[in-house]
This record gives sequence, structure tokens and C-alpha cells, in this order.
Amino acid sequence: MDLTQLIQKAQEAKEKAYVPYSGFHVGAALLCKDGTIFTGCNIENSAYGPTNCAERTAIFKAVSEGYREFKAIAIISDSKELTSPCGVCRQVMAEFCEPDFEVIMLSCDGRYGSATLEELLPYAFSLKEEKLATAPELS
Ligand code: THU
Repeated sequence: MDLTQLIQKAQEAKEKAYVPYSGFHVGAALLCKDGTIFTGCNIENSAYGPTNCAERTAIFKAVSEGYREFKAIAIISDSKELTSPCGVCRQVMAEFCEPDFEVIMLSCDGRYGSATLEELLPYAFSLKEEKLATAPELS
């Protein structure tokens, strides 16, 4: 994986963010297993609820173009802290990505860390048999 390229694409996508309400720009670059990269930015709405996060924009763009196999995603925002995906985006990732899907979280000044989807969303809900995570039972 060309991490530098993925990070650069996420940075470029961030510049496209439509954020008249929060002013908080987010960009994401999604790497498909075949090497194709889809980018996304956050797109806000005056009714707030319809706002779409950058990660979901990238995933939905990819799926709508026929891509469903993903390797990694890089996420960057205006924050000096590492940008961690929200819960809704983690659930959307769980719909299409394997537990070892790599989430690369960047700060605006270029630091980064990474975690697998399984680390970010353990016991993910799924209706797909092969993806079912069994929650531990309380005794
Ligand atoms: N946002 C993202 O794009 N990705 C995340 O994972 C967290 C939040 C956006 C949504 C909204 O436009 C802005 O950041 C502030 O919440």
C-alpha cells in the first residue's frame, strides 16, 4: 500500500468538504483491494441529520461504482488530534469490510495512527452469518 498517496488523496478530499455549519473539514481516501482509491468529504445539511461523513461518502461512492472489497481508509480533519471515525461510519465499514480492514487516522499536522475495524468496533452487529460476531454472555 502506498500510504503517502492515500494520505495525500485524503488531504485533497478534505478541501472539498461542504461544512457551512460546523466549519470542520474532513477528508477520507478509501483503498480498494484492487488498488483503486475512492475519496470522500463531509457534506453537511441545514437540517443537520442528513449530514454525511467523509468516510461514508467515500464508501458509498465506491459501492455505487461496483466496488465492495476494501483494504484501508485514511481519514484527516482540521483537528490536531487523530481523526477517529464516528460510530455510524464504523457500522457502515462493518457492512463491507473485513475485521482486519485498516483505519488510518491522521492529525492535521501529519501524525497518524492506525487500528483495525475489529479494534474500533468489536462485536459488530451483522445479519450476515459469516460476519456474525458473538457477544460474550453475562453469567
Ligand atoms: N465527521 C466526519 O466527516 N467524519 C467523522 O468520522 C466524524 C464527523 C463530520 C460530520 C460533520 O460534518 C462534522 O464532521 C462535525 O461533526
